[in-house]
Amino acid sequence: MKPANTFTGRCNVTVAHCRDIDTYSDPGNFIPVCFSTDMLAVHGRTVAQGYGGKANWDEISRIAASVSIPTVGNGDVTSPCEGIGRLHASGCSGIMIGRGILGNPFFFTNLNDLLRGRESEPQGHAERIKMARVHLNRAAARYGKHHATLELKKHLVFYFKGMKGASRLRVAINNANSLSELVDAIDLFSAQFSGSKRGQ
Ligand SMILES: Cc1cc2nc3c(=O)[nH]c(=O)nc-3n(C[C@H](O)[C@H](O)[C@H](O)COP(=O)(O)O)c2cc1C
Repeated sequence: MKPANTFTGRCNVTVAHCRDIDTYSDPGNFIPVCFSTDMLAVHGRTVAQGYGGKANWDEISRIAASVSIPTVGNGDVTSPCEGIGRLHASGCSGIMIGRGILGNPFFFTNLNDLLRGRESEPQGHAERIKMARVHLNRAAARYGKHHATLELKKHLVFYFKGMKGASRLRVAINNANSLSELVDAIDLFSAQFSGSKRGQ
């Protein structure tokens, strides 16, 4: 029988593993590797797949069942609901979120609510725009205006996905040459939601 696979909070050595790295492609081979490892993260895609195709959660489950240390599954968890499903069905002790978190730092709060049996509603436009501003301000405080401008161009667009006028905003964000131009672009964009119920 598989030993208890519970994450205790102690974590000295972790191994992140893609499905097809030659030597370890058979889960049996994980055991020596994991002997002195505290936790294992399994990326459910092959190296050749990169970010394409689908993560293979059957294989993640198989690997989780074959080791005695906590396993964290990763790949294509795009919503908190999906995260709960994967967590319960895979036998993993945890899940790792990649692209699902982009522009959506609320992901973890929402997932936590669901895990505790609480209702969880997706955030509205106003909250998402507010969080984009928080992200920008914190990045500026931490990295300085210049680096924050360059770095945040990659992240900001995700906050506005699906909102009316988002593609125009994306162009403005890409063309911005300074932090204040980024702020102006967001101000102009968000003005359309002022007083709108959709923003709540
Ligand atoms: C912006 C971004 C940064 C990432 N950084 C790392 C990293 O530093 N180390 C790592 O092992 N994987 C990194 N990854 C890969 C993710 O951990 C994950 O394996 C991959 O995104 C697939 O999961 P997903 O389908 O949930 O996106 C990153 C992915 C993204 C999108």
